[in-house]
Amino acid sequence: MSNDLYGSRKNLPIGFMDSGLGGLSVLREAVRIMPAEDFIYFGDSLHAPYGTKEQSVIRELTFAVVENLLKQGIKGLAVACNTATSAAVRLLRGMYPDLPIVGIEPAIKPAVTSSHGGRILVMATPMTIQQEKYQALLEQYRDQADIVSVPCGGLMEFVEQGRFGGEQLDAYFRKHLMPFITEDTETIVLGCTHYPFLRPHLQEFLGERPIQLIDGSYGTSMELKRRLKVKGLLRKEDRKGIVTIQNSSGSQAMIDRSYELLEMPY
Ligand code: DGL
Repeated sequence: MSNDLYGSRKNLPIGFMDSGLGGLSVLREAVRIMPAEDFIYFGDSLHAPYGTKEQSVIRELTFAVVENLLKQGIKGLAVACNTATSAAVRLLRGMYPDLPIVGIEPAIKPAVTSSHGGRILVMATPMTIQQEKYQALLEQYRDQADIVSVPCGGLMEFVEQGRFGGEQLDAYFRKHLMPFITEDTETIVLGCTHYPFLRPHLQEFLGERPIQLIDGSYGTSMELKRRLKVKGLLRKEDRKGIVTIQNSSGSQAMIDRSYELLEMPY
């Protein structure tokens, strides 16, 4: 009996959430490394951005999305949003102790590990940067590298609106990023899950500068796989899983854009 229950749990989809379309940059990695799994992705675009809201509001929004996913039935959860992770992941783990839950945080550790002593910039939402969790992460590496946080309020909106290049994006980078770039800047951490979709344009904007761009989507997906495996919840069949995308905006255009982002070459 318990085996049956366990077996059927294994066949449930994995839940993904984000304030909008950003978490799809993590989901595409997860699909690549766990192709037999089904996924439900919930983008809360109606309430986006999270990154400029109060911590208590972000928590309530995150809890509501997670509850919705749990009602539909999921066997694991990826909080594919740096902002929601820093505000709510610890509480979520307390609320659902049996559910494998992974969050995402700016990839400072790999940036420091691969560093040659140059400056590391971390682009993230203002709220991620203010959170205790992020400040503790910074503190851990502060004496190993010159790490500078770059608050990027207003940047995720470009992705939500399907604007992946153009003069306005250049103007944004000139105003909000350029002042932090020094001769010795060697890495930019994309510390918000929306930003990897802007990577091609950012690379172009940076031109000849030898700056590497990194994000945490692969590491997070690997951690999700590991946690599911430990609990015996990974599907082993030779099948192609199904990805279901839902969005609180109720807009079909957002759903269509989501599937396009998932397929976008990178
Ligand atoms: N995608 C979210 C993150 O990783 C943030 C975007 C937002 O809602 O401000 O932080």
